[in-house]
Amino acid sequence: MLNGRKTLYSGMQATGTLTLGNYLGALKNWVNLNEEYECIYGVMDLHSLTVRQTPAEFRKNARSLYALYVAAGLDPEKNCIYYQSHVSGHAELSWILSCFTYMGELNRMTQFKDKSSRHADNINAGLYTYPVLMASDILLYQADLVPVGQDQKQHLEITRDIAQRFNALYGDVFTVPEAYIPKAGAKIMSLSDPQKKMSKSDENANATILLLDDRDSIIRKFKRAVTDSDTVVRYAEEKPGIRNLMDIYSCVTGKDYSAIEQEFEGRGYGEFKLAVGEAVADELSPLQKHYASLIEDKAYLDSMIKMNDEKAAYYAAKTLRKVQKKVGLTERIRA
Ligand code: TYM
Repeated sequence: MLNGRKTLYSGMQATGTLTLGNYLGALKNWVNLNEEYECIYGVMDLHSLTVRQTPAEFRKNARSLYALYVAAGLDPEKNCIYYQSHVSGHAELSWILSCFTYMGELNRMTQFKDKSSRHADNINAGLYTYPVLMASDILLYQADLVPVGQDQKQHLEITRDIAQRFNALYGDVFTVPEAYIPKAGAKIMSLSDPQKKMSKSDENANATILLLDDRDSIIRKFKRAVTDSDTVVRYAEEKPGIRNLMDIYSCVTGKDYSAIEQEFEGRGYGEFKLAVGEAVADELSPLQKHYASLIEDKAYLDSMIKMNDEKAAYYAAKTLRKVQKKVGLTERIRA
């Protein structure tokens, strides 16, 4: 609870630009849930350091991510949108919580296994303790609800385990958060290989729709999307490419699967893919226009970042002081 309301917390890594997967799995739901909660959204730049970044590009990506949150419809005057690295409490809590997290638990994390196989030359300790930092992000703000895509489910489970373990030892210190994972859109797949998750690190540019792709590129990529040798638009286990396109179309139009099947009855894949491409381009167009003007408005973005960094630091300090006291760290002597 924050300011008498339930708290929603989420964030994204500040690496590269966002994909349609990030948007449909998370960002769009943040906007939909926005009115009901007191909302805090982080630009997760500390997490991005687990993979090597080029400093200038990294800074640009982090700012672009901030502007994308706002462009998608999150008002920085009503929501606390801030940079993770600007609030030192994340790193401090992360250290304390790492002493309450077992290696056995971290060894089970599928994302760690996956990332270490993709970055075999840089399996650093940060990659390993990544879930502890994520738990700290969430617990620091006493979040009730955390809207994320399917791939973050395991990280939410370990967050809950850490919170419960800590609470069992020290009393009710942390709110135990619930994950919010949408029914459609929780796992958007690659357009070139529908068995693989859509990801910004995909080397094949046709596999991924980026939020700032222009209309023609979006439509072209959907036209090339891999489907199957059948011709009927139908939601079925053995048709992963079509299922993915139906999920995307359902998320952006609000139509359910049977309505989509009816709409494209007897019309073939070509028409369906074009319709999905156009619907996605239409959905992203207002966001792209808003983004283009925001990213030019340095004074506005800077003032929002400053105001919200302070707000976030204030919320975080409250929890951190409580945790430090509970575990028995000596309180600071104040003048
Ligand atoms: P990240 O940056 O990888 O992804 C951001 C959000 O996008 C979702 N997502 C997807 N959803 C559907 N289909 C896809 N193909 C797809 N790809 C990504 C992710 O599930 C996520 O919700 N560890 C987090 C960032 C983080 C965080 C947090 C999130 C750090 N601290 C605290 C919530 C709360 C991450 O790497 O997300």
